This record gives sequence, structure tokens and C-alpha cells, in this order.
Amino acid sequence: MTEETMDSIPQHYSALQDRIARFEARVAVVGLGYVGLPLALTACETGFDTTGVDVDAGRVARINAAEHVISYMPGDRITRAVEGGRFRASSDPADLTAADIVLICVPTPLDAQNAPDLSFVTAAAREIARRLRPGQLVVLESTVWPGATAQVLRPILEESGLRAGRDFFLGFSPEREDPGNHDFNTQTIPKVVGADDPQSLALVEQFYNAIVARAVPVSSSACAEAVKLVENSFRTVNIALVNEMKVALDAMGVDIWEVVAAASTKPFGYMPFYPGPGIGGACIPVSPAYLSWRAGDVGSATPMIDLARSSNDAVPGDLAARTCRELGLDAEGAAPLAGRRILLMGIAYKRDVEDTRRSPALALLDRLEEMGAQVDYHDPYFPRMAEGGEYPHLAGRMSADLTEAALAGYDAVIVTTDHSAPDYALVARAAPLVLDSRNVFAKLGLTVAPGRLVKV
Ligand SMILES: NC(=O)c1ccc[n+]([C@@H]2O[C@H](COP(=O)([O-])OP(=O)(O)OC[C@H]3O[C@@H](n4cnc5c(N)ncnc54)[C@H](O)[C@@H]3O)[C@@H](O)[C@H]2O)c1
Repeated sequence: MTEETMDSIPQHYSALQDRIARFEARVAVVGLGYVGLPLALTACETGFDTTGVDVDAGRVARINAAEHVISYMPGDRITRAVEGGRFRASSDPADLTAADIVLICVPTPLDAQNAPDLSFVTAAAREIARRLRPGQLVVLESTVWPGATAQVLRPILEESGLRAGRDFFLGFSPEREDPGNHDFNTQTIPKVVGADDPQSLALVEQFYNAIVARAVPVSSSACAEAVKLVENSFRTVNIALVNEMKVALDAMGVDIWEVVAAASTKPFGYMPFYPGPGIGGACIPVSPAYLSWRAGDVGSATPMIDLARSSNDAVPGDLAARTCRELGLDAEGAAPLAGRRILLMGIAYKRDVEDTRRSPALALLDRLEEMGAQVDYHDPYFPRMAEGGEYPHLAGRMSADLTEAALAGYDAVIVTTDHSAPDYALVARAAPLVLDSRNVFAKLGLTVAPGRLVKV
């Protein structure tokens, strides 16, 4: 290291500290999806000039036109940001050059072998590296395996000739977005931050303390990466456990929903998880696979997590078999549901969100059709199923109308997503058989004629 570079560390460092403290640092968020857009708006709302950069030019145009691209976000948030002049979206990576702080929020899915696919992270990193300049802070928010920031992201950024911790600063902060959660949002959820040198850690901590309720520093980027995987693996294992208990208790004539509600009154040592049609979204089904893959890579193993993952993956198939049994059919037979009409209430993976990524409802729909059923769906968030995705053959299907006559024509209606909008009272009145995987009728206090409602 030259004397000049050594001198420049405190200079870069204190210059960025000052810019953050005075809210003069310019922020760029790479990837304006479910995580990046709320984060960019939060940075902007707390006073930072923010640019969101996304490769999807159509999405960029919709955001700049203040379209309400995330249904569960308050409607005027994007409008206020765009009209306030402190936020704009761009599809030009050249806009990264001016940023002092670059936050990466691109997808990290699984590949065809169920191994981590970091290709979006590496592509974003190359764009950043091409323009990296001394004094910038880069933070990865996308879910990755412990060690990826140091072993995958850092070398690409250092291809610029600049060194992390010396010329630029680098950290990891796992996003904790919970779509549709009205109790917590990006700003109010504490944020874990980690980095591999003291200056980077201090800057990441200072920045997040400026935009969210509280930054929680940990000693390395790998530790911060592991926090995310542990949080999600905890959910995965507990969801598998409650679904297993649902089946076992059902055989004993005990209602799991009543049990969980009563167990939740214990003020310590218990946390409720709820059964359902399986797990979905870009997060809970994916993160534990990252942990499991990395454990294998370093000669360790995660058998409990792996068992939970396969149990969760089996739930939609189990539900299809249960549907056969409730209709008096043999699930093992050839095309047991041939000639039967089934309606799925909801294809989103979660209540009141417009997201079908890894949705168990789609896996169920596919399985029921393999078994010969004619399946329709009703989902107010998906009037029409989009192109692409994990089930491209379903593209173009339309949400069925909920009318008394239509409902009466189905052999079974399965509640797969407990969206708030549908008229469940109408379903309770008109459907000949309702299979409720979300306990929605009990929660709404709706009565269904004896023998016509089954909690599944
Ligand atoms: N959505 C959630 O609730 C959630 C929860 C936990 C974790 N995560 C994690 O957060 C990360 C982001 O997820 P998301 O749900 O926001 O994804 P998303 O698919 O909603 O959004 C990602 C955005 O990044 C853009 N993009 C892809 N490559 C790019 C590139 N090279 N440059 C610029 N933009 C690019 C895409 O066009 C897209 O708009 C992932 O690692 C995911 O696992 C998401």
C-alpha cells in the first residue's frame, strides 16, 4: 500500500461519515423488487437522494410514472417519492457512478439442481465494479450463503483495482421484508449489519441507523449472512412441524388451530406457527436450501432442515390426496379426479400479496390436474396468470368469478390463500364441499352446513 493510499483511508472514510451524517450521501439501490423498492423509498423518505437501478425497463417506467407496483404498500408512497424530486428509477447502470452508497437487492434463487444461483448478484457486481470509485460503500442485501460477500462479491468488485476496506467499503445486511405485514415495515424493523473491516462496519452501521429504527452490528459479513439463513430455517422447520402435528392430531379428532391458539397463551417458550397448504415465496423455501448447500460444501450437514424442506414440499401433494378422499375417491387410482371440478381460492403464496413465486397453491393446482380434475382458481390479485414463472403452461388462465351458480357447480372448493377480499359467506352458502387449509371460516365466524366444511 502506498503512503498516499494509506493517508486516503481516513479521508474517504471521514468524508463518507460526514455525508451520511448530513444526509448528503447519494444512495443507489440495485434491484427495485419487493425488497429494493421499499428500501429505496425508506432511504429517500429519511432524507437521502436515492436512485433505483433495475434492468427491467418496463418496471422502471411504471415506478417513474408512480404506478402502484406493490399492492400492499401505501398507495401514495411512490407518488410522494417521485413527485418529491429526491427519488427516481433508472435502467441505466451509469447512474451508479454518482452514488456514495450502493445497496444490492437482486434475486438469489435456486438453480435447476436446487443449488444457490448467485448469477444476478455477480451480474450486478460487474456493473458496479466497472464504475467503482474510491470512497464508495457497497452493501449486499440479497440472501446468500455465509461467506459469499467475501468470496464472491468482493473479488468481482476488486477487479476494479480498488481494495475493500482500503479504497472502498463493503458490508452485508440481510433484508427482513415481510410482504403485507401491517405491524412492521422496512423502517421499523431492526437491521443486522456485518462487515469484514472496522471502517466498513462503522459506515454500514451508521447508514442503517440513519434510515431504520436500529442497526444491529455483528462481527463479520458471514455472520450477518448466517443470521438470515437461521431466521428462515427456523420458520421452515416450525412450519413443517405444525403441518405434521395437524395431520397427527386430526387423526385423533383434535383441531390443530384450537391447540395452537391455546398454546399461544403461554407467555414464554412457545411461538405460534400455523398450518397451511405448504410454503411459498422467494424466501422461506429458498434460504434453508442455501444453508444446506453450504453446509455440504464445507463438509457438514443439516438433516433436520432437509427433512423439513422435503416435508413442506410434500404438503400440496398430500392435500390433493386428501381432496380425493373427501370426495370418496381412491387417490392411488388412475386419474382419480377425472370429471371432477375444483376451485382453488387463491394462488398467491400469502394473504393479500400479488406474488405467486413458489406458491404451494400452484403446486396443488398442477397436482390436481395431473389427477384428472378440471381446476379453476379465484384470486383478486391475478385476474390473469402471467407469462413465465415456474408453471409456464398455466399462463393466460383467468380468475373465475365467484357467483352462487358457479360455486354450486364445483365438486370442491379449496381455500389455499386467505385473501381478505373474497366473499367467504357466499362460498359458505353455495359450495357443496369446502376444504379450508387456512381456517378462514372459523376466523370469520362463518357457519357452513354440517358435513360441508373440512379443515385440511
Ligand atoms: N420478497 C421477500 O419478501 C423477500 C424476503 C426475504 C428475502 N428476500 C430476498 O431478497 C432478495 C431480493 O428479492 P426480491 O423479492 O426483492 O426480488 P424481486 O424479484 O422482487 O426483485 C428483484 C429485482 O431485481 C432486478 N434485477 C435483477 N438483476 C438485476 C441487475 N443485475 N441489476 C439491476 N436490477 C436487477 C429485477 O428486475 C427485479 O426487479 C433475494 O435475495 C430474496 O431471496 C426477499
